[in-house]
Amino acid sequence: MMANHRISFPAALVAALAVSIAAPAQAKGPVPDPAVKQFQRLVDAAYAKYKDLKDGKNADYIPILTETPSDLFGVVIVTKDGKVYSAGDVDYKFSIQSVSKPFTAALVMSQQGPEVLKEKIGVEPTGMAFNSKLALAVYENSVNPLVNAGAIAAVSLVKASSEADRWNQVSQNLSDFAGRPLTVLEKVYESEYTTAYGNRGIANLLYNWGRLYSDPEEALRVYTRECSVGVSAQDLGMMGATLANGGVNPITRKQVMPAAHVPELLAVMATAGFYDESGVWMYKAGLPAKTGVGGGIVAVVPGRFAIAAFSPRLNEAGNSIRSMKAIQDIAAELGVGVFGPNAN
Ligand code: DON
Repeated sequence: MMANHRISFPAALVAALAVSIAAPAQAKGPVPDPAVKQFQRLVDAAYAKYKDLKDGKNADYIPILTETPSDLFGVVIVTKDGKVYSAGDVDYKFSIQSVSKPFTAALVMSQQGPEVLKEKIGVEPTGMAFNSKLALAVYENSVNPLVNAGAIAAVSLVKASSEADRWNQVSQNLSDFAGRPLTVLEKVYESEYTTAYGNRGIANLLYNWGRLYSDPEEALRVYTRECSVGVSAQDLGMMGATLANGGVNPITRKQVMPAAHVPELLAVMATAGFYDESGVWMYKAGLPAKTGVGGGIVAVVPGRFAIAAFSPRLNEAGNSIRSMKAIQDIAAELGVGVFGPNAN
């Protein structure tokens, strides 16, 4: 009798609890981010505040980038469940450039684990420009995958049987993060590859020092192609939202990278995502992020959402002025800096 009592009473309780917990959750669906009510107002406000700002200029060391209309500007928030809040030119396709770098680092981590990234490329912020050759000499065995040297090395680390295989994997991975098939802007590729003397020098130096893991010209070509991939600000938002969502694309539901490695990747973005401006960026915005000379930036609020922006005019460090300001404003308004709310 007693034994019966002990078994049946908790079982009934568990069943009742299960019903009372499961029923409301099913009716309501996923819990929305507590800040969601402010998202549309904040992207609209950032767009309105900075749309007429003319500071900075398009990148010109890749000749074709001077042709991007300089006034384009878009701001977007994408939540970890794939909801999009946008203002301005968020569908215009521009070259992803260095914003591709963390995503290829993620591919290397997925294939070989985070230690390989640390040992074979390094994770030290250089405090120097994205294309610095000096940083290679100073840090010899440890740069990071977000400067050109480390990004070319990351491409060379992708396990591949041929150049076509290497490119297909890099390209597929970027598309998986975006949740749609991305394609190369061929004119950007031609323009950059035919003028890539500096990056060719970097690739050859790395190879000479045993810090590049494929044929240098192959790595240079695949790296230049990944930088020429066309994306919109909304695509960057979706790629960031995939990181915010533990490596799962919010739309396709594909696990693009292991959730366990997202914190390491975000740590590198936090310390090196803005090159020699990484300190100022973290001080002001408090969010892991990545910039590109195409004018795109994506910032990640871990576990919640991504804020992305696009505007071609850059500052001296090669970072988009309006995009930085828009993201900083939104992060400060929401108080989502990873170390606590940042003042703006
Ligand atoms: O290798 C380069 O110089 C370009 N493909 C990418 C540089 C870049 O985007 C720097 N970011 N702000």
